Amino acid sequence: MQNVKRRLLNSDFCILNVEYLHHKEKIMPGFEYVDDELCCDSASISKIASKVKTPFYLYSHDTLKKNYQSYTDAFQTVDLLVCYACKANSNLSILRALGNMGSGMDVLSYGELFRALKAGISPEKIVFNGNGKTSEEMAYALQSGVFAFNVDSQNELFLLNEVAKANNIVARIALRVNPDINPLTHPYVATGLAKSKFGVPIHEAKEVYRTASTLENISVVGIHSHIGSQLSKVELYLETLKKIMALVKELHDIHIHLEFINLGGGIGIPYQESESMPHPKDLSTIISPLINDYRLILEPGRSIVGPAGVLVTRVLYIKHTHKKNFIVVDAGMNDLIRPSIYGAYHHVISATRHSNTEEIMYDIVGPICEEGDFIARERYMPRVKQGDLLIIKDAGAYGFSMSSNYNSRPRVSEVMVMDGKDYIIREREVCEDMICKESIPDILKEI
Ligand code: LLP
Repeated sequence: MQNVKRRLLNSDFCILNVEYLHHKEKIMPGFEYVDDELCCDSASISKIASKVKTPFYLYSHDTLKKNYQSYTDAFQTVDLLVCYACKANSNLSILRALGNMGSGMDVLSYGELFRALKAGISPEKIVFNGNGKTSEEMAYALQSGVFAFNVDSQNELFLLNEVAKANNIVARIALRVNPDINPLTHPYVATGLAKSKFGVPIHEAKEVYRTASTLENISVVGIHSHIGSQLSKVELYLETLKKIMALVKELHDIHIHLEFINLGGGIGIPYQESESMPHPKDLSTIISPLINDYRLILEPGRSIVGPAGVLVTRVLYIKHTHKKNFIVVDAGMNDLIRPSIYGAYHHVISATRHSNTEEIMYDIVGPICEEGDFIARERYMPRVKQGDLLIIKDAGAYGFSMSSNYNSRPRVSEVMVMDGKDYIIREREVCEDMICKESIPDILKEI
């Protein structure tokens, strides 16, 4: 963005963030300006917003497909099963669309398994993750015939063995190992450090495998690791894989033979233009030569669905104080919580391109009763006015799936564009939905 004039309306004291100053407008695949109107797979977002109440999530099916295929294309020489991490976005249509492309699923709760099965995903392509599985979840997964459990601890292994026995089923397992590798990411999503709550420390794993191999209703079939999310370096996977392969060899020596190696998810996406993130091809180049004849499982979430979705929000008010320029939008931290809890950056653009090159520094905030309710802070944008539509980018992953009813706000609708046509894939909630499971005991009504 050249020749941009930037003004700090009433706020010359605001600290300039150099990164923001140099931030260029980035239009991602699937979302392009056509005649100054931002379109999703050639459908005008403004037109969709005239039919669907804002805020709403909007997904590009085309981008979803390209992102999924970037994995299958990259790993042609390896027997790869992509188990999309449906925690990133578990809308039934997203799951179905990915299932249609051939994807399996990584689920980590009763609810996620229920969704995956409802979406028509074959249980033989489902892996069950999590460090706190209940016996109820185990029984449901066993009866559904999931491909494998990623077992997080020895005690989980014992419980799974019992539940499998009670159901007269043999549970296929991979042990989640913790390789003690610093994934260089946000501490909340760094899962492969020795101090993390996840997995069995890799140096203790051989003994746990040995125990597992003695359990009657357990079949040891794989090994799993997921060191973190929003990873920017494929070398981290290589480091993990090297440790895993050393263990696999040791297991081989004690006659424990595995079918697959599951390296989890984690490839990051460039939320800011200045960030550079690996492509699945980079991952393949570095790890495929080491996989030998093992089947490889990957559990990508963010890199598949993140850039395929945006949050569309409308400007309610513009407010200038003597310290700041605020854009108050109708999307709040209950709709997109990532900026509030991780300080995450999401690029924000206008649905209509402005010829005005003057940029103003704004804080983009929501309507929730908390100061931590913001979408973006100290962000330069062309002048915005009341009623404008803003697009919060890269919101497809951990957007809707982390949304809540905080402040008794109904959760928003979700729309997917396929072949230029928009489909509502989730209706906006109404107030009745929020209270339908609540009741007032008679004793409270007696007064
Ligand atoms: N596999 C396992 C075992 C996981 O725990 C996760 C994510 C994934 C796969 C998928 O990782 P991905 O490819 O999406 O990075 N709410 C946070 C992200 C939490 C990630 C949790 N686990 C955020 O908004 O950044």
